[in-house]
Amino acid sequence: MADPRGDLERTILTEDEIQNRVREMADQISTEFSDVDELYLIGILKGAFIFLADLARCLRVFHKVDFMALSSYGMTAESTGEVRIIMDLREPIEDKHVIIVEDIVDSGNTLNYLQRLLKGRRPATLKSCVLLRKEHNSLDAPLDYLGFEIPNIWVVGYGLDFADTYRTLPFIAELKKEIYQK
Ligand code: IMP
Ligand code: MG
Repeated sequence: MADPRGDLERTILTEDEIQNRVREMADQISTEFSDVDELYLIGILKGAFIFLADLARCLRVFHKVDFMALSSYGMTAESTGEVRIIMDLREPIEDKHVIIVEDIVDSGNTLNYLQRLLKGRRPATLKSCVLLRKEHNSLDAPLDYLGFEIPNIWVVGYGLDFADTYRTLPFIAELKKEIYQK
């Protein structure tokens, strides 16, 4: 059962809407990188694991997958503005064609930090592919591929969590406000 505790307010994006958009994004990436030998996809754990899995399986460009884990907000819905690396990449990315795959941009802190960090490792190209961006988003880290703009609410499902729950819902839903605005 998708919502045994009754924590979800409403569906924001259905499974079909997500799958169609992910396929479009993969097509766009495949076209734009059709002449490169190899793409290097970097999934940001844990939130991007489902998005990355679906996106990568629709790509028509030869690619490798790696992961980084960054610090999360923990049990709250407040960004601390502070980002820490919990797990780094397995390989250097120098001269590689790199795409950061991220679930959501809220304040933009995480992506900004990551872009600065990875740029310093001198990849041949560095792009960002993000499924969701909240409308209020302030920092404006450059996004090369964006799935959907959503309102400034807390969403779960399709990899996104609240306190590590609801990640495996096949759709994306708004959490009830009383749960994340404590
Ligand atoms: P930012 O650094 O404020 O842009 O926050 C980005 C990170 O916060 C994302 O990678 C997510 O892990 C997490 N996050 C932000 N908003 C949400 C949300 O609505 N649901 C689940 N996770 C979120
Ligand atoms: Mg994340």
